[in-house]
Amino acid sequence: MIRPAILAAFALFAAGSAFAQTAEEKRAIDYGREIFKNKAQCQFCHKWDGSGDQGYGGNALSLRSTQLTREQMAMVVKCGRPGTGMPYHDQYAYTDKRCYGMDREMAGENMPIAGINQTLNPSEIQSVVNYVFAEYVGRGPSTYDECVAFWGADTKQCEPMKK
Ligand code: HEC
Repeated sequence: MIRPAILAAFALFAAGSAFAQTAEEKRAIDYGREIFKNKAQCQFCHKWDGSGDQGYGGNALSLRSTQLTREQMAMVVKCGRPGTGMPYHDQYAYTDKRCYGMDREMAGENMPIAGINQTLNPSEIQSVVNYVFAEYVGRGPSTYDECVAFWGADTKQCEPMKK
């Protein structure tokens, strides 16, 4: 009985891959990507594949090899990281003690800069964190297919990655 074994193997494979993504999951990922790419421009510092970059804002860490939990990551997105180039995105960050127990005065010269475009509301922050976990965390080097998923098929952006 070879066929059932093959089918079972395929089902396992599909369950762990994009094939198994429901329409709703895909929408949620697309929404998070939109925030990462355009609304908050995380990609400006962390690169499109989250692999990190050195340049503007300092050394933006790799989100592919981060060790943070979802909760810790949400905190970093809301509050930025004092004394580094990682900006905050919660409109009330440092107005009260929600960020590491510090207000603007306590943060002093370590006060992070505000996010590039605008602040994000709590559900946008959750969406971008979910996106980062779904697409980057624990992944190895990015692939051509991931590049096309990010930039679309009709840009030249991914040509150099083509095998
Ligand atoms: C202006 C540049 C800039 C932008 C925009 C930016 N980051 Fe960062 N980010 C950084 C830098 C620099 C660090 C490194 C901080 C440090 O040294 O601890 C960082 C660190 C992080 C970390 C911590 C990683 C770890 O393992 O400790 C996370 C998570 C993160 N950024 C996510 C995001 C997300 C999500 C967005 C968009 C909402 C974003 N960043 C936008 C510059 C940026």
